[in-house]
Amino acid sequence: MDFEAASDLYRRSIKPNLFRLDPELAHDLAHKGMPFLKQLVSMGLIRGYLPPARLHCRLFEDQLAAPVGLAAGFDKNGALLDSVDALGFSFVEVGSITARPSCGNPRPRLFRLPGDEAVINFMGLNGLGAEAVAARLKAASPNLPYGVNIAKTNDPGLTGDKAVEDILFSFRAIRDLKTAYVAVNVSCPNTQEEITAIGKELATVLSEIAKLNQRSLPILIKLSPDADDRLLQELLSVSSAGGVKGFVCGNTSMDRSALVNSKDELASINRGGMSGRPLKRRALDLVRRVYALKEASQMIIACGGISSGDDAFEFIQEGADLLQIYTSLIYQGPFVASIVNRRLNEILEQQGLKLNEVRGVKIKVAD
Ligand SMILES: Cc1cc2nc3c(=O)[nH]c(=O)nc-3n(C[C@H](O)[C@H](O)[C@H](O)COP(=O)(O)O)c2cc1C
Repeated sequence: MDFEAASDLYRRSIKPNLFRLDPELAHDLAHKGMPFLKQLVSMGLIRGYLPPARLHCRLFEDQLAAPVGLAAGFDKNGALLDSVDALGFSFVEVGSITARPSCGNPRPRLFRLPGDEAVINFMGLNGLGAEAVAARLKAASPNLPYGVNIAKTNDPGLTGDKAVEDILFSFRAIRDLKTAYVAVNVSCPNTQEEITAIGKELATVLSEIAKLNQRSLPILIKLSPDADDRLLQELLSVSSAGGVKGFVCGNTSMDRSALVNSKDELASINRGGMSGRPLKRRALDLVRRVYALKEASQMIIACGGISSGDDAFEFIQEGADLLQIYTSLIYQGPFVASIVNRRLNEILEQQGLKLNEVRGVKIKVAD
C-alpha cells in the first residue's frame, strides 16, 4: 500500500482506538511504533514518498530532500533519529533538552481537542537532561540531519546569572555533536515564568554561547506566536546583534480564542500551550512579522498548525524557508510529512515554480 492508503487506514482504524487511550500513553505507543513503521517502509509494505528535485533544499550545511521536519517536543530525548526519515520527515528538532533531568509538570498535562484538531499541553519540559541526551545522540547513527532545542530548566528559582549558566550547561553538553543547528527556546509557555523566562537574559546567553561555539554551530531562536510587536522587535534586534542565524516561528500559544468546538473540554483544562490547526493563523502572522524584521541571511523555520501542502505553501509565501510539524501527526497520522510534501510539489509544479521562487511572494493557488 502507499503512504496515502496507510494514512487513510490510520484515520479510520488506528486513530479511534488511540484516541480512547490517555494522550501520553498514546504518545508512548506512537514512539514505540516508529521503528516498526520504518521496517514496513524498508520492506516495501508501505511505499513512502520520494521527494523530487523541486523540493530539495538546505538546512545550513545539509542537503534536505524536502522542507518538512519534525518539531521539538515529539522526540525530546533523541530516540527516533533512525526511524522518522521513513515517514517523510527530512530533519528533526530534538528536545527541548534542559540542563537538569525533569519529570515535568504533574499529570494530566496533555489534552486532545479533536473538534478543533488541536492539542493543549502543559508538559513543563520533561526530559532526561542534557548530558544523557547528548550521550545518546553521540552514540546514534542518525539517518537525517537534526537540530537540538535547548531550554532553561523548569525551575522559577533559576533567574539572572543562574538562568544563563543553566542554558550554557546544555550548550556545552551538545556543542561537539553533529547537530545541524541549536535552537534556543525563549518561548515555552509551560513553565512558571512563561514566554520571557530567558528572553531578558538573551543578550548575555548569546554572547556567552558565542565564546563557547568554537565550531560555529548555527544558533536559532524559537519564538512565541504570542509575542507582541515590541517584544518581537527586541528579541530580533538582540538576536541579530548576537549573530543568530534564524528563527523557529513558533511555539504553542496561550491564546485559546481560535478554539471553537472545544468549549466543554476547555472547562477542565487549566494552563497549557495550544497547538494544531487553530494555531495556524497566529503562526502565519508570526512568520510574516519576523520576515519583515529579520536580516536577509537569517532563515525561518515555520511551525504551527501545518497539516497540508496548501498550508506549507502559505507559510513559504509568508517567508518560511523550512517547515515543522507536530500536532497534525496526531490527527493525520505518521505519514503527514509525505502528504504535505506531495501536495506542495503538486502546487509548485502547477505554478512552474521552485521552492525559492515562492518565498515571501504572494501567488494565488488553484485547487
Ligand atoms: C506535547 C507537546 C510537547 C511540546 N514540547 C516542546 C518542547 O519541549 N520544546 C519546544 O520548543 N516546543 C515544544 N512543543 C511545541 C512544538 O514544537 C510546536 O512548536 C507547536 O506544537 C506548534 O506546532 P504544531 O501546531 O504543528 O504542533 C511541544 C508541542 C506539543 C504538542
